Amino acid sequence: MSITKNISLIIAGAIMFSCTDQEKFKNIGIHENTRWEFAPNMYHSKAYEPLTQITDENQGVFISSDDDGVGEYYNSNPHNPHQMNMRVPAEGTIKRTKNGFMPYHIPKDSLSYAAKVLVNPLENSPKNLADGELLYAKFCAHCHGAEGKGDGPVNKPFKGVANLAEGQLKTISMGHVFHVISNGKGRMLSHASQLDQEERWKVALYVKNKLQVSQ
Ligand code: HEC
Repeated sequence: MSITKNISLIIAGAIMFSCTDQEKFKNIGIHENTRWEFAPNMYHSKAYEPLTQITDENQGVFISSDDDGVGEYYNSNPHNPHQMNMRVPAEGTIKRTKNGFMPYHIPKDSLSYAAKVLVNPLENSPKNLADGELLYAKFCAHCHGAEGKGDGPVNKPFKGVANLAEGQLKTISMGHVFHVISNGKGRMLSHASQLDQEERWKVALYVKNKLQVSQ
């Protein structure tokens, strides 16, 4: 590289770095202070961004050729609720948990481990038991029967549905029930896509503390 090129690079660099207002940015870390943006459209997408949005119509400069009356960084969809760029989930979508998605990691073949370590996080309250009873009626009773005797109408053609109300299954732990609902067992399939974790615990609570107790 020639000396003239070197010198012009040094001068250009000096100009770029000397233009910032050092006093104003004294207390701000370099990451919070982006100073000049050389290609703003790389940071402020014109296209709708599903996971971020700028709802402030005054952000960015107003470009007259783009006559939509909002700053160039405004990036929201005024036709959606809350100006969201995402679509609202379809009606009937099952939410995972109140605090966000929490995957259940114990694999299907680790039933005895799950049965031992899992602890029901819910209170043994009348409300939780009543919710569990309703969910049991909707998701389990057609196979396991209203009283858990394995005599629901689906057992006729399906056969081999476990009797939860009598025999050795009366001694299984609540974690065991939760794990079976989550992962399935044998010919019973997983119910994890129909019931979120809280609902599964409610059903397990009902099975252990009401259904099996009242027999
Ligand atoms: C389609 C019918 C069907 C549905 C619906 C169903 N189950 Fe089952 N369930 C079975 C069958 C069949 C077995 C026996 C599985 C095996 O060991 O092969 C079983 C077994 C079980 C067991 C015993 C597991 C063990 O360790 O032997 C529990 C507990 C259980 N089910 C709970 C539930 C609960 C709670 C629900 C509702 C969320 C439910 N099931 C929904 C068919 C069903």
